[in-house]
Amino acid sequence: MTENQPAQKKPDACSFVIFGVTGDLTHRLVIPALYNLAATNLLPDQFCIVGIARKAMSSDELRDSLMKGLRQYATRPVDDAIASRLLECLTCLAADPADPASFDAMRDALEKQEKARRTGGNRLFYLATPPDAFAPISKELGRTGLLKEKNGAWRRLVVEKPFGTDLASAKALNDELLKIVDEQQIYRIDHYLGKETVQNILVLRFANGMFEPIWNRNHIDHIQITVDEKLGVGHRGSFYDATGALRDMVPNHLFQLLSLVTMEPPARFDAHAVRTEKAEVLAAIQPQSEAEALDNSVRGQYLGGKIGDTEMVDYDKTEDVKPDSNTETYAALKLTIDNWRWAGVPFYLRTGKALGTKRTEVAIKFKQAPFAMFRNTPVDRLSQNYLVISVEPTEGITLQFNTKVPGPAINIDGVEMKFRYKDYFKAEPSTGYETLIYDCMIGDNILFQRADSVEAGWRAVQPFLDAWKKAGPKGLETYKAGSEGPAEADELLQRDGRSWRKLG
Ligand code: BG6
Repeated sequence: MTENQPAQKKPDACSFVIFGVTGDLTHRLVIPALYNLAATNLLPDQFCIVGIARKAMSSDELRDSLMKGLRQYATRPVDDAIASRLLECLTCLAADPADPASFDAMRDALEKQEKARRTGGNRLFYLATPPDAFAPISKELGRTGLLKEKNGAWRRLVVEKPFGTDLASAKALNDELLKIVDEQQIYRIDHYLGKETVQNILVLRFANGMFEPIWNRNHIDHIQITVDEKLGVGHRGSFYDATGALRDMVPNHLFQLLSLVTMEPPARFDAHAVRTEKAEVLAAIQPQSEAEALDNSVRGQYLGGKIGDTEMVDYDKTEDVKPDSNTETYAALKLTIDNWRWAGVPFYLRTGKALGTKRTEVAIKFKQAPFAMFRNTPVDRLSQNYLVISVEPTEGITLQFNTKVPGPAINIDGVEMKFRYKDYFKAEPSTGYETLIYDCMIGDNILFQRADSVEAGWRAVQPFLDAWKKAGPKGLETYKAGSEGPAEADELLQRDGRSWRKLG
């Protein structure tokens, strides 16, 4: 099946400049993704990597550290020849936004490097830093002219998550960046868009004629989006305690899933059309008052428990977490979308840490068939019609429907029709970042968040953030690590006569 795929073109010559090159993200994801691109011959012929560290370190030292990271995190066996070729083109430069002169010196050194490597001046600046460095670094890149596009050379800025911590800070960051570069030059990363199944939502909906006629409030009862994780907060206590489950997952990852499932068909498969429809639907999420937000949400914090063989301590006893923390590690929300397609259809979203299963899925529940015809059969056992788009642990799509049990009597049972990616396609394991990095290099921003989408996402969650902050510990439920989350999350659906789909 894959042999019919057209060959992918190689990106233009360019330099790939990484801020935060000594950090975890660069070691764990960015370099392994570049390695996978190198191994599949998808890096430019003229290419160089420039790692920017705040304090000077030698290129050899950086190369050794990245090579170690690559050996640890590579998704495929490391071929030494490919890895050495990749890291041979790496230079380490020092620059600290607190010291403007260091940026001037870095610009001169970078330009020299680019001449030697014949990259034609095309540059991609990848901000793999903590979020408070995004604006200061961008300002310096602006001041030194490093982001200015000239003589046909492109200059792009890749910004990692989290983009802001609420609506006001996201807007401020957008304003700041848009003073320096055009929207077209900004690539706001959400790694969920690098996942095959997430991209496949568009194909499922718009490359198949049969779904569109039933993809609306006439046929869909409600939609559930679940991103459950087994892991606790590990060593990210201080980041997570200031962030919480809602900020960490909902306006970004869960809303990516939500917008792809609910957007109107774009007129064309291009970045402008697709991103406009995604932003439109997020902007149509019905605003809630703080009282409504409290009523339509559940938040919880995990207590100690066992997940498989791992013993978890109470969240508030975790390293770098405040002992009296009110931060939620679980969030469930009910939202509605104010447009003709979705009016009256509830969307239930849930996500949490330290749960019994790792599962990411979108479950579309279709309306029940009229029962009259089967009135003398055990209709309450009719299985529910779900179409489930599964991202984790198995990538695929499942359709649940009712069928007759063989035999003389009409007995009905639920069955499943399953499509699993791995049964049809052979794909090399990847980090999920390859597609995103490749797209940045070829200048396709379809899989990146536009400013209006980011702000619409924050606008929709802001009432929940505000209401929870005001409520403090009141209403913060608890759940045992390894469980399905707080019982109150079940009540959120039960009061609407519904229930969460059972997970594994
Ligand atoms: C990150 C969050 O953005 O996404 C993490 O900061 C979370 O807390 C992760 O664990 C989940 O990603 P995935 O791909 O494992 O679902």
